[in-house]
Amino acid sequence: MTKNIDRHISAFKGELKKLYGLRPGYLFLDLTLGDGGHTEEALKSGCRVVSFDVDGEAIKRATTYIKDFQPIIIDGMDENAWVPKDFVWIIIQSNFIKVTEISERLSLPDFDGVIADLGPSQFQILSEGRGFSFSGNEPLDMRLDQTIGVTATDLLAVLNEGELVELFSMADEPFAKPIARIIAKQRQIAPIITTKQLSDLITRIKKFRTEGRIHPATKVFMALRMAVNLERENIRLLLPQLPGLLKKDGLVGIISFHSGEDKFVKDFIDDSETKGIISAINEKPIEPSIQELSISQRTRSAKLRLAKKII
Ligand SMILES: C[S@@+](CC[C@H](N)C(=O)[O-])C[C@H]1O[C@@H](n2cnc3c(N)ncnc32)[C@H](O)[C@@H]1O
Repeated sequence: MTKNIDRHISAFKGELKKLYGLRPGYLFLDLTLGDGGHTEEALKSGCRVVSFDVDGEAIKRATTYIKDFQPIIIDGMDENAWVPKDFVWIIIQSNFIKVTEISERLSLPDFDGVIADLGPSQFQILSEGRGFSFSGNEPLDMRLDQTIGVTATDLLAVLNEGELVELFSMADEPFAKPIARIIAKQRQIAPIITTKQLSDLITRIKKFRTEGRIHPATKVFMALRMAVNLERENIRLLLPQLPGLLKKDGLVGIISFHSGEDKFVKDFIDDSETKGIISAINEKPIEPSIQELSISQRTRSAKLRLAKKII
């Protein structure tokens, strides 16, 4: 059980009210509840909110932080669930790729604004026993959704050397090849099943090749986490659903932390603009302010793209 992990510092914390025009009665869809920072900002602005998260532990934590509002919590798989028309806050435990299906089943109204703040929260990264962090020594798991079957250990066992190179390269790991090679050799001797085993192998390869202050294992761990949780596939499946969830003039916002993800989002917005569905609010993504960075360096790579539904 994990103790005493500080609350996740939300990217663009405190800025959603202005960016979205949050106000009483505004219907806000938060697809990535996490520690509830964005949801709380919306609730405190008087919005009615539907929040999704795939991770039951994240949902429990968010409800302990947001004390002034009482959510109705729904299991996204529950075919018999229903919601009152005058709800204030609903939490749905589900992968966000099911958002259209679930919204239709629950007869949710169209929203004024939607946000997806991608990736894991600090809580998940730092939680004991979940295998996201290279600083501990625990099973290499990395699943956000405990019901999915494939862990990081499984991927390291089944991907061939070429596939490992491809995977690590997706996270811009410059030493993808030698790292894939040492993994392929090592697993012939013994399976790689702990975060420390993997981190030590990577450090052996990258010992004398530091990249600033980041830990040598950062990119490989990120690549594995993205693959285990099908993060790219999920974004690809989510993006085309978003306009259909909004009222006309509704806003869609995506926060990404990796250039590959931001490119998906940019391409989606460009394509939807060409089709006359949405219009980008900013040409360039919004980046954290100097003030935000002075509070948390964690969000330094965050990029927010906002677009308005125009039909
Ligand atoms: C970066 S955190 C969100 C932080 C939140 N905005 C806040 O202010 O505290 C992302 C959250 O999204 C959840 N998540 C990631 N992928 C998901 C998916 N495909 N479906 C639903 N939730 C997902 C994670 O479990 C995590 O709790």
